[in-house]
Amino acid sequence: MQDTINDNEDLLLMLDALLREPTSFWDDFYSNREKGIPFFVNKPDENLASYFNNVLSGTSGKALELGCGPGRNAIYFAEKGYAVDAVDLSEQSLRWAIERAKERNLKINFIHNNIFDIQFKEGAYDVIYDSGCFHHIAPHRRMSYIQLVQKALKPGGYFAITCFEQGGKLGGAAISDWEVYRLRSLQGGLGFTEERLRTIFKDFEEIEIRKMRELERSNELFGVSALLTALFRKK
Ligand SMILES: C[S@@+](CC[C@H](N)C(=O)[O-])C[C@H]1O[C@@H](n2cnc3c(N)ncnc32)[C@H](O)[C@@H]1O
Repeated sequence: MQDTINDNEDLLLMLDALLREPTSFWDDFYSNREKGIPFFVNKPDENLASYFNNVLSGTSGKALELGCGPGRNAIYFAEKGYAVDAVDLSEQSLRWAIERAKERNLKINFIHNNIFDIQFKEGAYDVIYDSGCFHHIAPHRRMSYIQLVQKALKPGGYFAITCFEQGGKLGGAAISDWEVYRLRSLQGGLGFTEERLRTIFKDFEEIEIRKMRELERSNELFGVSALLTALFRKK
């Protein structure tokens, strides 16, 4: 019978259904490329570039980007010599990402799917990166998200995210996990604090948690201070 909860997957699907349908939302979001969204620029995150100046300096291997959107960070990994798998559920965003990769003659494996519908190979990646996807993940999917990262990352591999700072100027809803379901909304994206990120990713070794650096528009890197950035290592 439809609408019956027989197992944990049914429960997750029921909770998904209380919230906004993500695929159509994101396809619509990317349908106009000229609307001045900060992350529509084709520049990598400043924190990602800084990782390549220290812990990732001289490394190569396999990178996975979760919620890659129009591909700016996946492109950066590929330019650094990484073999890149980049996932997004929006076909519109991937169309744009593919165009950008072609312009730079880069081969990136763009995957059109929901990150929770992919069976990742155990220990397949040296680095997993997420810029702006995690804060759109509903609380009931967070455990699956952490398991996904733990499974797909090699021992000693790096995992990094950028996400909304709670109450920051770009959004970052200051609501509890329970409140999400009372309101039936993530309020445009959940906000985090350094402490909250530390708690959520407590099973990883913390390398760095900080605010993203605010950079001039003319800078070759992307940086807005309303985001938090965090770098962890799988133990
Ligand atoms: C704020 S955008 C950031 C895009 C890109 N990372 C960037 O910084 O330019 C968040 C992206 O996550 C994607 N996304 C959200 N939930 C997802 C999921 N469950 N599986 C795959 N992609 C997802 C959206 O389609 C969207 O492109």
